[in-house]
Amino acid sequence: MNRLDMFRLPVYEFTNPDHAQFKEQWLDYIRKDDWFVSDRGMHFTNPNLHKMDLFNPLVNFMGCSMAEVLTDLNMIMDFGFTGVWGTHQRDQGHHHSHTHGNSMFAGVYYLQADSEDGGGTVFENVLADFNSIKMMKTGYASWEHGDETPLQTNSFQSRHQIKWKEGKLVIFPASLRHYTKTFQGAGRTVVGFNMMPIGATKDDVFDRYVYQPWMEQQMHGDGAEKWVKGQ
Ligand SMILES: [Fe+2]
Repeated sequence: MNRLDMFRLPVYEFTNPDHAQFKEQWLDYIRKDDWFVSDRGMHFTNPNLHKMDLFNPLVNFMGCSMAEVLTDLNMIMDFGFTGVWGTHQRDQGHHHSHTHGNSMFAGVYYLQADSEDGGGTVFENVLADFNSIKMMKTGYASWEHGDETPLQTNSFQSRHQIKWKEGKLVIFPASLRHYTKTFQGAGRTVVGFNMMPIGATKDDVFDRYVYQPWMEQQMHGDGAEKWVKGQ
């Protein structure tokens, strides 16, 4: 038998070896950031953590991990983070189902949770809606199995949860729909990022696929300007 996994969705996991060294400093900032924006039970910091010295070690780790992903996918290109932000949930908080627009890849770093099951990311298979045969068991949930995240799912499964572990970074295509379950515990803190290419992504005589560098551009949240959701 030959099996071909066609057009697979690559989701990567990395472990930050320096997590314990920096965890408390990063947590302090995200929890005390008075620029928090609240939305549906979640609190967001400004989206510019990648411009702060404090988060340099984390952003470097994310960048090296992102480069490994691109190498593995044979996608040779320059890239940058368009946003890096912290989110904090309290008891009964959750993150609704969403995708990350205007991004190529997205990432989530599990910084800290007061509960043993910190609530890993749940990815949804939107193509499962087209499966007319409804299977008795179409999702995989690590909280039901208590084992490690399996390395493979199939298109008949409707969802898949990544197992929570502090210091873990998950990188996935930004268009992949995901959410977090309702959190039960005192607090849960993660750091998210969005990534885009810089420069040419393909050979095109009309120069239509060249993404301009933006890293020096002013963003909401830079300097003294307060970042306000919706602006
Ligand atoms: Fe997300």
